Amino acid sequence: MTPAELLLTKTGGTVLALVLLLCLALLLRRLYGQRGPRRDPSREAPARDINTAPFLAYARGFFSGEARGDSLLALKAEHTLRVLEEARAIAASEPAFSAALPRRALLLAALYHDLGRFEQLRRYRTFVDARSCNHGLLGARILSRGVFLAGEPEEVRRLVLTAVALHNRQRLPEGLSGPGRLVTQGVRDADKMDILRIMAGQLAAGAVADPAVVMHLADEPQSWSAPLLSALEEGRTGSFSDMRFYNDFRLLLCTWLQDLTFAVSLRRLRDAGHLEAILGGLAAAPEAQARARRAVEAFFRAAADADRQGKRPCPPSLPDR
Ligand SMILES: [Fe+2]
Repeated sequence: MTPAELLLTKTGGTVLALVLLLCLALLLRRLYGQRGPRRDPSREAPARDINTAPFLAYARGFFSGEARGDSLLALKAEHTLRVLEEARAIAASEPAFSAALPRRALLLAALYHDLGRFEQLRRYRTFVDARSCNHGLLGARILSRGVFLAGEPEEVRRLVLTAVALHNRQRLPEGLSGPGRLVTQGVRDADKMDILRIMAGQLAAGAVADPAVVMHLADEPQSWSAPLLSALEEGRTGSFSDMRFYNDFRLLLCTWLQDLTFAVSLRRLRDAGHLEAILGGLAAAPEAQARARRAVEAFFRAAADADRQGKRPCPPSLPDR
C-alpha cells in the first residue's frame, strides 16, 4: 500500500487529522504563547478572580464580641464588598479598564481600599480621620507589609498601594497621571457610589441616622451651612471641615457628583436615585433643598449633554507596554 492509499483508509484519515490539529496547536502556541509575536500581554491573567477570603479573614480578626464595635466593622466589611461590585461595574463599562493589568489593580484596590479602617477603629475608637489618622495611608502601610498582594505583578502592587493611599484625598495630586490616576479614580468612584447608597439610607426623609455614621453632626432639620451650598452651586467638592449639621452632610454628598470621573458612575447613581433620596431629607430647609436640587439637576443635564457631544473628558489612556 502506497502512502497515498494509506491516507485514504479510515485509520490513515484519523491520523492525518490528528497531525493537522497538533500542527495548528503548535502554530498558535508559537504565535500567541509566552514569547510569541502576536501575544497580547494586556489580555493575560484576567481569569483569576479576586479572592475576597484574605480580606474577610483579616476583618474577622478585629471582631471582639462587643456588639457596637462589631456592627461598625461588619458595616465596613459589607461596604468593601459593595465597593468591589461597583468597581466591577466600572471595569466592565470603561474601555480604559479592558486591559488586564489596570482592571486587576482596580479590583484589588477596591477590595483593600478601607483596610486601614479596622486598625483605625481598634486604635482610636473612631472612623473620623481628623480625630485619629489618615485611614488611606494606614491601609497602604498595612497592605505593603502584609501578604495580601503576594504573587501580584510589581506594577499591580504599585497601582493598588497608590490607589489605597489616595482614595480618601479630597483632591488628587496634580502629578498623578497614567494608570496610577486611572485606578485611583476608579476606586474613588466606586467608594463614593456605595457611600452615597449608605448615606441615602441614613439621611433620606424619615430615616433615623446613626450618630457615628453621620459623624456626630447636629440634627437640626432647618439648619445648613452656606459654604457647602456655595461649593455645590459653584461646582466644587465640599469640605468635611465645613460640616456642622445633618443637612451639611446632605449638601456635601451632593457635591461628590462633581468628583465622579466615569460616565457609568453617573448613570448608575442617577438610576439608583440615591441623590434624590438625600435631597428629600432637606425638606425642612426648603431654600437649601430647592437650590441644591437645581444644582444637581443642572449637573446631570450638563453631564448628559457633554456625553452626547463626546465632550466629557476622557480618563487617561494607558501608556504602551
Ligand atoms: Fe475609605
